[in-house]
Amino acid sequence: MRCYLHAFLLCMVLSFLSLLYVFSQLASTLEDADGWAAREHGIPDRSSHESGHLLRKMPGPAGLPDREEGEGSDSFVKKPSDERSHLAVVACGPRLEETLNMLKSAVLFSKKPLHFYIFAEEELHNSFRDALKSWPRVVQGHFNFTIYHITFPKENEREWKKLFKPCASQRLFLPLILKDVDSLLYVDTDILFLEPVEHIWALLTQFNSSQLAAMAPEHEEPRIGWYNRFARHPYYGKTGINSGVMLMNMTRFREKFFKNDMTAAALQWEEMLMPLLQKYKLNITWGDQDLLNIIFHHNPESLYVFPCQWNYRPDHCIYGSNCKQAEQEGVFILHGNRGVYHDDKQPAFRAVYEAIQKSFEDSILKPGPLEASLQTTTHTYCGRASHLLTKRLKQSIASVQQDVTKRR
Ligand SMILES: *[C@@H]1O[C@H](CO)[C@@H](O)[C@H](O)[C@H]1NC(C)=O
Ligand SMILES: *[C@@H]1O[C@H](CO)[C@@H](O)[C@H](O)[C@H]1NC(C)=O
Ligand SMILES: *[C@@H]1O[C@H](CO)[C@@H](O)[C@H](O)[C@H]1NC(C)=O
Ligand SMILES: *[C@@H]1O[C@H](CO)[C@@H](O)[C@H](O)[C@H]1NC(C)=O
Repeated sequence: MRCYLHAFLLCMVLSFLSLLYVFSQLASTLEDADGWAAREHGIPDRSSHESGHLLRKMPGPAGLPDREEGEGSDSFVKKPSDERSHLAVVACGPRLEETLNMLKSAVLFSKKPLHFYIFAEEELHNSFRDALKSWPRVVQGHFNFTIYHITFPKENEREWKKLFKPCASQRLFLPLILKDVDSLLYVDTDILFLEPVEHIWALLTQFNSSQLAAMAPEHEEPRIGWYNRFARHPYYGKTGINSGVMLMNMTRFREKFFKNDMTAAALQWEEMLMPLLQKYKLNITWGDQDLLNIIFHHNPESLYVFPCQWNYRPDHCIYGSNCKQAEQEGVFILHGNRGVYHDDKQPAFRAVYEAIQKSFEDSILKPGPLEASLQTTTHTYCGRASHLLTKRLKQSIASVQQDVTKRR
């Protein structure tokens, strides 16, 4: 009897191994086929004739994706069946680790597939690629990515580059660079998703016919608001908008004629940006975010304002809690601006950052240790509001764990 059992087990192991082999062969064939498809179709929206091989070996000309990652010919074309969330980030300077942590938080909780559009300085391309390729295989199955060079319109390249932080104003040009992408969620590098990306993505379907972008207010509390106290330019609404989490229907960006205070005629997105910068460059403080505020001041019907729990910053707790929706439902997306993930000013934000950073190593993120480290931050106002940081996060973790258990 025992002997049979052994033989049976051996058989099972062998067939499993051969299956694995077949799969790996199949996978590499598919990869090749995909590479071919990407090459055949060329890179959209540029009349480049370089082959994919060339692109792979050499840094492509500005604006071309540096590399297609296992992505078929359908990569840029929206299909009715596209259930992916398309996530873009712009990373310059020392932002590699932070950006990877943001991307990690996106894959940790999302159940629908993701596509990452990573705009980065040349020096960072290999590091991004290597890091993403080193993630666990199961995780890699949930996303594809494309890495791009930072590009600005040739005529005014210098002026755009030096506006605010290096590269930050790249986001203004995404509708023009990613011409074949219908919609995009742009986030700053210091964003952490505490719930699936597809939840914010779903807001796109709530846009009415004139809305083309969604953002959160810059402040909840006008008494500490920046724009209403200091701005020397028009801004949206009572306290302005924050562009760190920006959901865009880019098809509509490309189609719309925007009202503005430069000409009587409405202008298209690409026609408007440079005159706007020229007019306001001496008066703006926060770079492209200020430009977005000016634009939506003149086109308020085009903006969908989502509540602060989708873009929760130290401002929402630093002088006491002022984001009501987060108090009710928890924080959905954390935005650690002012460098709070990396210094000791807001240890509660840092604790969440570090918990996510460790998460593939400890396999799945566990709420216990995070809550313990948040307990040590209660000497700060944000620490005292830390149950808001974990409320939604704990649900997200539980939901992922449930799926893992089901699969076993
Ligand atoms: C990534 O691209 C491959 C090849 O086109 C595709 O089969 C796969 O479904 C994509 N994965 C995701 C998560 O979109
Ligand atoms: C974006 O807007 C276009 C034009 O109105 C529409 O066809 C498309 O379905 C919208 N995309 C999404 C994701 O809602
Ligand atoms: C810039 O700020 C100054 C001082 O507040 C103001 O007088 C001027 O009108 C502003 N420029 C524009 C284009 O709004
Ligand atoms: C869409 O919603 C915005 C904000 O509520 C509003 O200003 C605008 O008039 C609405 N557009 C349409 C076509 O209903």
